[in-house]
This record gives sequence, C-alpha cells and structure tokens, in this order.
Amino acid sequence: MENIYNAIKVSEHVYWVGAIDWTVRDFHGYTTPHGSTYNAYLVMAENITLIDTVKAPFLDEMMARIKSVVDPAKIKYIVSNHSEMDHSGCLPQAINLIKPEKVFASTVGAKTLKEHFHDISAIIPVKDGEVLSLGNMELRFMETRMIHWPDSMFSYLPADELLFSQDAFGMHLATLERFADEIPWATLEYEEATYYANIVLPYSPIVLKALQKLTATGWPIKIIAPDHGPIWRQDLDKILALYQKWATQMPEKKAVVVYATMWHSTEKMAEAIGEALAEAGIRVKLMSMNEFHRSEVVYEVLNAGALIVGSSTLNNNILPQMADVMTYLKGLKPANLIGAAFGSYGWSGEAVGDLQEILKAMKIEIVTEPVKVKNVPDEAVLLQCREMGKKVAAELKKRIGG
Ligand code: FEO
Repeated sequence: MENIYNAIKVSEHVYWVGAIDWTVRDFHGYTTPHGSTYNAYLVMAENITLIDTVKAPFLDEMMARIKSVVDPAKIKYIVSNHSEMDHSGCLPQAINLIKPEKVFASTVGAKTLKEHFHDISAIIPVKDGEVLSLGNMELRFMETRMIHWPDSMFSYLPADELLFSQDAFGMHLATLERFADEIPWATLEYEEATYYANIVLPYSPIVLKALQKLTATGWPIKIIAPDHGPIWRQDLDKILALYQKWATQMPEKKAVVVYATMWHSTEKMAEAIGEALAEAGIRVKLMSMNEFHRSEVVYEVLNAGALIVGSSTLNNNILPQMADVMTYLKGLKPANLIGAAFGSYGWSGEAVGDLQEILKAMKIEIVTEPVKVKNVPDEAVLLQCREMGKKVAAELKKRIGG
C-alpha cells in the first residue's frame, strides 16, 4: 500500500522527515502568510538518530514519514538542537513512541526541555565541540547560543558534510519543494530576509561571532539543513554572505516612513517627507500602520539607513498601531539608523514627543527637529515636512556616502 507521507532523501545517510504547516499565519507576532515547515531529519547511521522533532500537532505526520524509511523502534538517539516548541512540541510523545536509548541536547537545552516538559525523561547534555559516535559515523556539536534561544546548537555530520542548523538559515515558507535550488532566488531572498529581520535581527552581533566560529571549525559543508523551509545544497556561499551582510547591519540609502493616521493629516505629512527624500535620491518606503503589518515593516527596516515615524495623538497617546510596531521594532534592535518624528494632533499633542522618546530608547539618532501640527497641515507645514525629508536625506548621504 502506498504511504500518504514519505521521507525525502537529502544526502547519502540523511532523510527529511518533517512536517509542512500550510496554514500557520502567526509566529509569536511575526506574520507568516506563506506558512512554514518544521524540519526533522533522520540520520541512517549504525545508531539511527533523529535530529529535532516537530510542532506538537504534527507528530503523526513526522512519524509517518519516519515509518516510510525505518521502523521508529530502531531509532537509538534523538538530538534536540533547539528547545522552542516548533521543534520540541512533540518530543515527549515521540520519546514515548520511539523509546530511544538516549536523548541529547546542549547543556542549556537539557535544562530548557525539562522546564518545558516537566516529566520528560532525562536529557543528556552535550558540550560545545563534543562529538557523538553514531557507530559508523559521528555527529559534532557547536553551541549557537541566542540563535535563536540560549539552548540552540548546530549539529554537523562529517560523513555527508551536512550542517543541521536549526533556526539559522531557515525561513517560514511552506512548499513541497524540499530544496532551495528548486525555488526562485527572489522568493528565497525575500523569505530569508523576512525571517532574519523578524527572528534573528536582535542577535546580529552574536551571528557575526557564530559565523566566525563556524569558519574556524574548518568543517567542509555541502548541505545546510535548517529547521524551517527549504534545504540548501547549492548557493551556500550566497546564503552565508546574506547572513554576514544582515548581521553587519550596514545601512543603505533607504528611508522607511512608518506612520498611523486618524483623519489623513499625519498621512499628508508622511507623503511630503517621502517626496523630498525621493527627490534627494533616497529610496523610500511609506508604510501606513493602518494597512501594513509589523513584520513587513521590520523587513523594510533591515537594510534601511533612516526610520522616520509619525502618529496622530489619540487620548494623549500615540495611536495603538504605532505602539504595536514601535514595541516590536524596539525589541528587534535594528542598529545604525538615524531618525525623526512627526504628527498631527487635536489639542494635547503628546504623540510626537512620545515617538521621539521611543527612538532615543532604540538608540536611533534624531537628526532633525520634529514637525507637529494642530489639526490639518497647511502648505507651510507640509514644506516643513519636506525640509525634514531633505535633512534626513543629507544626513544619510553624509554617513554612508553618495
Ligand atoms: Fe523555529 Fe526558535 O524556533
């Protein structure tokens, strides 16, 4: 009888046995309009090893894919590279079904799994640089703390020159194509950048160190198998170069104008700022939070050099859509940005000052005075907004050239 779900061969000894989540649309605040995959891998060594598991509701799909290759009872080891529940959610159930001899995680991972699944069987901690014998081949471990959690680690299978990279180099993209080279590059670059911006960005300094550490291992790598999205067996240099670029956070000649408006006054101001920026040769993205999602904003901010923010004042505060995106951006710690604030108000007008304080807390250098207007901007105010655009453009060019 045919299987409904099958494993997919990745390399000589490795199969993909993960799950495809076509409908997930929210990943702790990050919108995922194209779904995701939770990748688990089976290493067909003498001691058969399962690398990571999947989100809890996808246990049956993972087990079915495993069964298409081997009787799950023959799996000796499970390795958990990352404790977040999209990869460990079904781990306790998988342990009960498979009954492996041993389960491994990083030293922090062993504790984190216990804190998540209180009655889980003992997890054996492995240290950074430790080597696990799988009988006829070995698995090497490299801690990658904070990419994406303190427990995270890479596993490397020298026999196939394959790196299991958990969240790193992954993307939220549900496809039946399992390999990146089967998907258009533009799609990969967009999804990878969106993932980096929404998940990895705050840990950029750590990413730079991890990339150095990975190079220092001298491990030859032919395949990168992340825990989300497609597997990289071509273009490894391109994806590594993109990570290097994003982690460096070098600003480009681009400004993102993010705003929320009540009766289109703040919107008119945003448009005047944007027009002047564009005329000065700056790439501009205007994003009304009445329409855009916070995840789209951080994608645009990833390679920007300026963040200009505006809000009407509502009940002595910034509009809630702006509070949402500013909280999200602040947590993701974009670096090397200059900024400015603007907005309209009816009587009290706190929003612009509040936005400036948030920019300062984000360590964004404010390079021009704010523009505030009571009720509706007239031509003089819109000209002030154009001046703001010109000043930000001039500062940006001064800093990055051009
Ligand atoms: Fe895919 Fe940090 O979990």
